[in-house]
Amino acid sequence: MLSIVLLSLVGSVLGSTQHNRAYDSPSYRAPQLGTNRNFVKKNHKRWEYYDGQLEFPYNVASGDPESDSVILWTHPVPTTDDSRPVCLEYQVSKQNNSWSDLVTSDQVWTTTDVDYSYKVEAKDLDPKTTYYYRFVNCADKNNVSPIGRFKTTPTVDDDDIDKLSFAVFSCSNHPYGFFNAYGNAAARDSIDYAVHVGDYIYEYRGDGCEDYYSCYGDGRDIGRVPEPNRELFLLDDYRARYAQYRSDSDLQALHQSHAWQLVWDDHEVADNTWKSGSADSNDTIAGTQYNTSFTERKANAVKAYFEWMPIRTVDTDDSLRIWRSFKFGTLADLYMLDTRQYNRDLTDLYYNTDEVKLLQEEEHRSLMGGRQENWLYHGLKNSSDRGAQWKILGQQIVFANLVSDNVDSWDGYKANRRRVIDTISQNNIDNVIVISGDSHANWVSDITYDDKEGYNTVTGDGSYLVEFAGTAVSSPSSHGYNSTANKPLPKEQYLQVAQTLINATGNEELQWTEGATRGYFELHLTRKEATAIYYGIDDVRVHSTNETVLATFVVEDKANKLKRPVAGGKVNGGWLAQRG
Ligand SMILES: *[C@@H]1O[C@H](CO)[C@@H](O)[C@H](O)[C@H]1NC(C)=O
Ligand SMILES: *[C@@H]1O[C@H](CO)[C@@H](O)[C@H](O)[C@H]1NC(C)=O
Ligand SMILES: *[C@@H]1O[C@H](CO)[C@@H](O)[C@H](O)[C@H]1NC(C)=O
Ligand SMILES: *[C@@H]1O[C@H](CO)[C@@H](O)[C@H](O)[C@H]1NC(C)=O
Ligand SMILES: *[C@@H]1O[C@H](CO)[C@@H](O)[C@H](O)[C@H]1NC(C)=O
Ligand SMILES: *[C@@H]1O[C@H](CO)[C@@H](O)[C@H](O)[C@H]1NC(C)=O
Ligand SMILES: *[C@@H]1O[C@H](CO)[C@@H](O)[C@H](O)[C@H]1NC(C)=O
Repeated sequence: MLSIVLLSLVGSVLGSTQHNRAYDSPSYRAPQLGTNRNFVKKNHKRWEYYDGQLEFPYNVASGDPESDSVILWTHPVPTTDDSRPVCLEYQVSKQNNSWSDLVTSDQVWTTTDVDYSYKVEAKDLDPKTTYYYRFVNCADKNNVSPIGRFKTTPTVDDDDIDKLSFAVFSCSNHPYGFFNAYGNAAARDSIDYAVHVGDYIYEYRGDGCEDYYSCYGDGRDIGRVPEPNRELFLLDDYRARYAQYRSDSDLQALHQSHAWQLVWDDHEVADNTWKSGSADSNDTIAGTQYNTSFTERKANAVKAYFEWMPIRTVDTDDSLRIWRSFKFGTLADLYMLDTRQYNRDLTDLYYNTDEVKLLQEEEHRSLMGGRQENWLYHGLKNSSDRGAQWKILGQQIVFANLVSDNVDSWDGYKANRRRVIDTISQNNIDNVIVISGDSHANWVSDITYDDKEGYNTVTGDGSYLVEFAGTAVSSPSSHGYNSTANKPLPKEQYLQVAQTLINATGNEELQWTEGATRGYFELHLTRKEATAIYYGIDDVRVHSTNETVLATFVVEDKANKLKRPVAGGKVNGGWLAQRG
């Protein structure tokens, strides 16, 4: 008996790791990004798998659902100090906790080379179906992971689908507060998928901060001091930070209960990144911390991201590509855009703000790069031609044209914004909704050209699309924060800021803004309308399930503007425009 078990512990490197996508994430062609399997065997004295017990401290996750497949993720940890490969069998079933009639399963290995990340594509699934999955230790069938759940999407031509829903998150800063938002969404269980539009982790250190930007919450008062407690530069730094975030029970609950669609913003790499640098790192200054250039740092960050996130490798020839789309029958297409890392032209790095302000109107400036812009514009036309009703653009920064000094948003790339609106207006594309994060406040707007020509500020006629931008899961408000006291401003002050923003001449498209609460929003799509429900959480320094519905907004089919009276004329926070 023993000899049989020992024999089966051995496999070939390629065969055993082939289906673990963590090795080629995001690209096996780029040496710094993928993990070459030819080198993997050299790193292991014995190419046989570990035969002891495993723990699953990071639970399970699923993502990038299609109509016939999904990505399943886990990250086993041996209970003894043993660096041999780990073998897990993934199992997928239509019944919860019933593993005798499996839909699909396979034994796949993971190793220390990819920090034990385990990422597989489960195939041959049925559309619009709820599945359950788990991971079983190949060496002990009783040693199993928690059970996860996900839903596949409808097939591309499915006309029957008449409702679809997402919860939308951004800016989850672990030392700044508890992830009540994730826990609440998991517990309510009223959505099909979870969408994260970036700043899933923060690269900052906690204590020993020199200034507001590098300080940004030290987490000591709530037991959430960053790990490692230094700014991230090295691959192991980023890996350790993901491990800390994914130890959070609320985050785990939502990963376990729903498939996610994710894309990054700047902090998955560094503060205010653009294609060749960030606010505090670039390739020209010598002596960057640990002598890591920005290019090396970005590769480290990207590799760790792809190891820890349940997402697909999009294009192994275009290793930084994360932008991709999802189709939900003829009800909706979801475009997940990268306005940050892929090909963004120079952004505000704090020391160059005046220079970037002079560039705002430049025709050639792009947030997305030519390849991604072309893909999006062709994609939007294609979605429209094939009759996909709603076109959702999941992306990072606030899209609306606002009177503000923030040139790190679309306001700093006006020509790129105009090209998006041109595509929509010139091709008569209806039902486009932008969903955004990044800003740590709530913003709901009609969207028109910067000159607002033809836009009726009372009825909203002349609007081309709508934006729902959400506040942070836990990052502090952009409507002002008391950094001396390291706590939020009083509510009245936030209300004042919201009123000033709504009243400002030039902000006529902005219908509601709110900065006092942390939270998220749900987007519910039907054939008749799209509805956004904004949830506000008062205090993320307390681990709690308390939340309130701040406001509910409706966009009717083909209206391309917010339904009047906006939010039914009533909100429970922030300031609603009264322009009638
Ligand atoms: C699935 O079954 C497990 C084990 O019985 C249970 O703990 C879990 O709540 C179930 N999950 C769902 C979504 O029903
Ligand atoms: C690199 O960063 C330093 C400070 O962080 C800055 O002074 C310098 O101008 C940057 N170089 C480039 C080419 O942006
Ligand atoms: C950075 O490189 C310099 C020059 O090679 C070296 O003296 C220094 O010790 C290095 N610093 C770190 C933190 O590795
Ligand atoms: C348009 O969408 C269809 C259906 O998904 C796809 O088969 C086709 O390749 C797309 N065409 C372009 C130009 O993107
Ligand atoms: C910020 O906090 C400090 C210390 O508690 C206090 O003195 C100051 O008035 C606060 N500032 C604002 C704008 O509320
Ligand atoms: C904003 O305008 C409203 C009237 O629409 C007014 O009641 C309020 O005082 C104004 N607030 C600020 C801060 O300008
Ligand atoms: C729950 O949140 C509401 C509104 O955000 C707030 O008024 C209330 O005090 C909170 N309750 C608790 C127990 O924190």
